[in-house]
Amino acid sequence: MLNGKYFIFTYGCQMNVHESEKLAGILEERGYEKAGAPEDADVLVYNTCCIREGAEQRAVGNIGNAKPIKKKNPDLIVAVCGCMTQQSGVAENLKKKFPFINIVFGANNVEFFGEYLDMFLRQRKYQKNILENKSYQSSTKSVQMVRDDKYSAYVNITYGCNNFCTYCIVPYVRGREISRPAGEIYKEVKELIEVGKYKIITLLGQNVNSYGNDIVGNKTTFPELLETIANFEGDFELRFMSSHPKDLSDELIDVIARNEKIGKAIHLPVQSGSNKILKAMNRNYTREKYLGIINKMKQKIKGLSLSTDIIVGFPGETEQDFEDTVSLLKEVQFSNAYIFMYSKRKGTIAEKMDGHLPIEVKRERIHKLLTIQKEITNNHFVSLIGKVQERVLIDGETANLYLGKTQCGKVVKIKKEKNLKLGDFANVLLTDYSGGNLYGEAK
Ligand code: SAH
Ligand code: SF4
Ligand code: F3S
Repeated sequence: MLNGKYFIFTYGCQMNVHESEKLAGILEERGYEKAGAPEDADVLVYNTCCIREGAEQRAVGNIGNAKPIKKKNPDLIVAVCGCMTQQSGVAENLKKKFPFINIVFGANNVEFFGEYLDMFLRQRKYQKNILENKSYQSSTKSVQMVRDDKYSAYVNITYGCNNFCTYCIVPYVRGREISRPAGEIYKEVKELIEVGKYKIITLLGQNVNSYGNDIVGNKTTFPELLETIANFEGDFELRFMSSHPKDLSDELIDVIARNEKIGKAIHLPVQSGSNKILKAMNRNYTREKYLGIINKMKQKIKGLSLSTDIIVGFPGETEQDFEDTVSLLKEVQFSNAYIFMYSKRKGTIAEKMDGHLPIEVKRERIHKLLTIQKEITNNHFVSLIGKVQERVLIDGETANLYLGKTQCGKVVKIKKEKNLKLGDFANVLLTDYSGGNLYGEAK
């Protein structure tokens, strides 16, 4: 029975993307169907992010766009959830600004959206439900998901974060870290592999390396969890994100190196190349320790490609501190770096620090770093020409080309010489890099 149509706006990280898959599942279980555009929807969901000011502004702007839709369709249900609503007072402010909002809930209880929706439909009264931490009930509730990607699937392994990097809002909005029992993770991954179409399984957590630390008497560490899954039968690639450098062990490096099915594109956020700034950020590692890990990985992991996150313009960052970040980028040669301007987040420790920098300085630094990284990324792809990329996922085709993705997510255009099937992995000899595109031949 068709109940109407839904449209979900998703902001933020993979965690939110995955949670929107749960929200879609909950709606489809209730007979709703995906709408092609927000204007056609009977239920609009805004799954928000608050990692930086810009993310919040985008969400708020878009919620405002629901007003004319609601005018046309007075029965439209507007729900707002995600990290933004977890901050104190935000749900109330949003409701004041946008009185047409019907349901507000937090990132920690997405699994209960269906219950809130049912309640709204029964009572036709504003529903607000926000939990400070992920509850046991939420983390263990089984929810049918409508997965976003054809070949790639996310699996939660931990929720929340205990690290309190001084700039970051996540520990405040997502609460204390909890790990899913290993047995549940194995079961979900096995089911995904058995379906046969999911070729990339990505384990999700804010800091996957601390998996299991919260489970009393737990014996499964992250490297053990990873290796157990890598040994499952089937044709798949196992990925994970994110890893925190402070507790990335030699054991983990060895597990990645010796298991063919574990992806060799590793994302390891460094944030800054300056020891003074790393300390102020409460990252718990030094530049030297980070570079030591990188060098070990480069030595041991065949086919490694590295990416990172950087924040420029953290309070107190001097020209010299910034130059330390520049030199780190040049030294490591990441295939990709996600570079952000520091954004002041309410309630964090950095908010109250001295030395906040003017926007012009942050802009100048991000611009400089982006230019430098662009050249490094370019050189990285040029250096791959003539080499074989293993396990390129074939996920599209045109009349005379297959479209593939490398382990680090870069599109490769492959000549249609050999017969390949969509959803297959192929080994591809890279023959050219031009106009931002990789070209190759399947081996
Ligand atoms: N838990 C993950 C992801 C955190 S959010 C991790 O630690 O790797 C993703 C990125 O957003 C961070 O790595 C950081 O680079 C950036 N970020 C977080 N808070 C920020 C802030 N206040 N201003 C600018 N960038 C921020
Ligand atoms: Fe934020 Fe740090 Fe936790 Fe990542 S590890 S979510 S940057 S507090
Ligand atoms: Fe944003 Fe929350 Fe993710 S703040 S980056 S959606 S954990």
